[in-house]
Amino acid sequence: MKQLPRLILFIITFLFTKIYMAGAEIPANPQSVPPLMYGCAWYPEQWPESEWESDLANMQAAGMTMVRIGEFAWSSLEPDENIYNLDWMERAIKAAAKHGMVTILGTPTDTPPAWMTTKYPEVLRVTEDGTRLQHGSRRHFSIGSEKYRSFCKKIVEQMAKRFGHNPHVVAWQIGNEYTEDSFDQESRARFHLWLEKKYGNLDELNKNWGTAYWSQTYTKWNQIPMTTGRSNPGLLLEYKRFVTDTWRDFQRDQLKVINHYAESRQLTTTNLGGLGWANRFNRQHIAADLDIISWDEYLGAGWFDKNKNGTGHLDPLRSGATHDLVRGWKQKNFWVMEMPPGFVDWGPVSNALDPGETRAMAWHAVGHGADAIAFWQWRSALNGQEQYHGSIVGPDGTPLPIYEEIAQTGAEFKKAGATLAGTQPVSQVALIHDYESRWAIEFNPFTQRYDQMQLLIDYYRALHQKTQSVDIITPEMDLSRYKLVVAPSLNIISPALAAKLIQYVRAGGYLVLGPRSGMKNEFNALNLERQPGPLSKSTGCCVEQFYALIEDVTISGTWGTGKATIWAERLQQLTKDAEVMLRFDKGSNWLSDAPAAVRRQDGDGTIIYLGAILDNNLMEHVSSIWINEAGLSSSLIPVPPGIKVSRRVGLHHEVFVISNFSKTPELITLPNPMVDVLTGNEVKSFTLPQYGVLILKQNT
Ligand code: GAL
Repeated sequence: MKQLPRLILFIITFLFTKIYMAGAEIPANPQSVPPLMYGCAWYPEQWPESEWESDLANMQAAGMTMVRIGEFAWSSLEPDENIYNLDWMERAIKAAAKHGMVTILGTPTDTPPAWMTTKYPEVLRVTEDGTRLQHGSRRHFSIGSEKYRSFCKKIVEQMAKRFGHNPHVVAWQIGNEYTEDSFDQESRARFHLWLEKKYGNLDELNKNWGTAYWSQTYTKWNQIPMTTGRSNPGLLLEYKRFVTDTWRDFQRDQLKVINHYAESRQLTTTNLGGLGWANRFNRQHIAADLDIISWDEYLGAGWFDKNKNGTGHLDPLRSGATHDLVRGWKQKNFWVMEMPPGFVDWGPVSNALDPGETRAMAWHAVGHGADAIAFWQWRSALNGQEQYHGSIVGPDGTPLPIYEEIAQTGAEFKKAGATLAGTQPVSQVALIHDYESRWAIEFNPFTQRYDQMQLLIDYYRALHQKTQSVDIITPEMDLSRYKLVVAPSLNIISPALAAKLIQYVRAGGYLVLGPRSGMKNEFNALNLERQPGPLSKSTGCCVEQFYALIEDVTISGTWGTGKATIWAERLQQLTKDAEVMLRFDKGSNWLSDAPAAVRRQDGDGTIIYLGAILDNNLMEHVSSIWINEAGLSSSLIPVPPGIKVSRRVGLHHEVFVISNFSKTPELITLPNPMVDVLTGNEVKSFTLPQYGVLILKQNT
């Protein structure tokens, strides 16, 4: 019964929209990106044109302001070599505009058509074991194939010429979720050339890779293997950098064409995959060439648990950390290009999110800096590999049960858009996630218990709960804006990075280095100087020996008492002004009574070397000490763990997004009254039910 008024409202809105839009004017001026853009992936090429109108009317009634089209449509855009058909796309863009929606155009280069893969099999990707892929799925192309790249440039040129001035196109998405690299001969030759360009001569490469070990010395570039197996650490690291550069180059090919033909108001992006944490390549480098970053948020990391025992529901901590990681690639707001409307079709159990959870997930993303949310996908495809996937309308084009929740969120986005425009999360604490260090540890973790992502999340939990705003950045980004910088496992520290970190500390920063930091140089070779290598003078300590733990070791000192777990390092104090904050207890074998954490003042700042992974309680306690010493506080008020608070700051006001991800209602009392953005009412104290969301504004 409760549903009835909403259903009636939907029917009225739908009919009104249809009648009203029948004579609607299509805006002729270039459209800008709507504030809090809201939309979905729409595949007009999969449906008879006669059905577009009702699909678009339903989208509009759900509050959508954007469609993303084209990213898999190559066979419809170029049905045969050099035979182009872009007319349908123009009609689709126009039809969407008639319903008040702007378009994000995807370049279709994730799915080369069958005429191409048959006629030019060299465009197909080769896996590491030498198997050439066949047609029938996606991502079957080789990023290293020049032939493929030239086809990409040609189709993108056709699209950019045609739509680069289209008033309704606001952005371009290059390809879709870059994923696998290829091991074909052409890619190998590219790798050799890339190495030659970087090192200049083989002596230099042999020296830095230490190839005298196991007779690996190379006398010709083409002798160098291309592998991801257990190989020379220098080679493995360079291969990752090469793959990053190759994707970047692949992307740049298309960017050049788009930038040449398209108006600069049309932004460029790509959706960087459902796993923000994925590390096949350095995502920050890919982001550097784009106007805005997008990622695809699929149900939180619980689903990706090694043991497949996630809850199948949003894990706000992991999901929040992933948003913050994505935001860190450009240190600015981002788009969520795909979010599941309720469920996916590839989970160990593809369960549905609870009623209200999808809305809470969308708002949670906005709180962390998303300026756009788009669902994947609008309508279930009749055939193809993803028939079961969640959608908003069914194969018959009529609303599914989730539609109402999507429409409610759409209406709320419209209301809140103006207030959120120009605001972004501002953090004073940054966690460093460094791809190179992460790879270096992954090549040989030394102990399988060293789960780098879990470690990062453990730090994040402790820091976020207290500050309610954490950035996750790569070490290349601007550090000067943070009062506290924490690097959980900064394994590789080049001389340039060491200089940057020291400069940050001396200028008044507060830097915490976790275990395994500064062990390697930029060639992934062990440093001659003991860990943390080029930072040991600044920290006033070094690592005498590291140990993988089977059993926890008790640890205590000025910072409290607890356990060192998984990994421990026996430190040596190098200077008197280096204070020992924690020690391993006497009787802990090699670690007995040795320093475990050292703090030192350097210039106007503080540097800490922490040589152990701490249990969660001690981590909580120690991180509060860092937060206090660095002069940080929570952005609103301390709240219970199930409540998530994010703050977006504008020029004259700030907005708080507060959601409840616990199972029970929670009462929150604000320090001062604020305006509920969705109702306009002033609130001071309120109870949030599970998945309840409140958006609050306060002038500053
Ligand atoms: C994404 C992809 C979409 C769709 C979706 C299904 O990774 O970009 O095209 O396949 O997953 O969850």
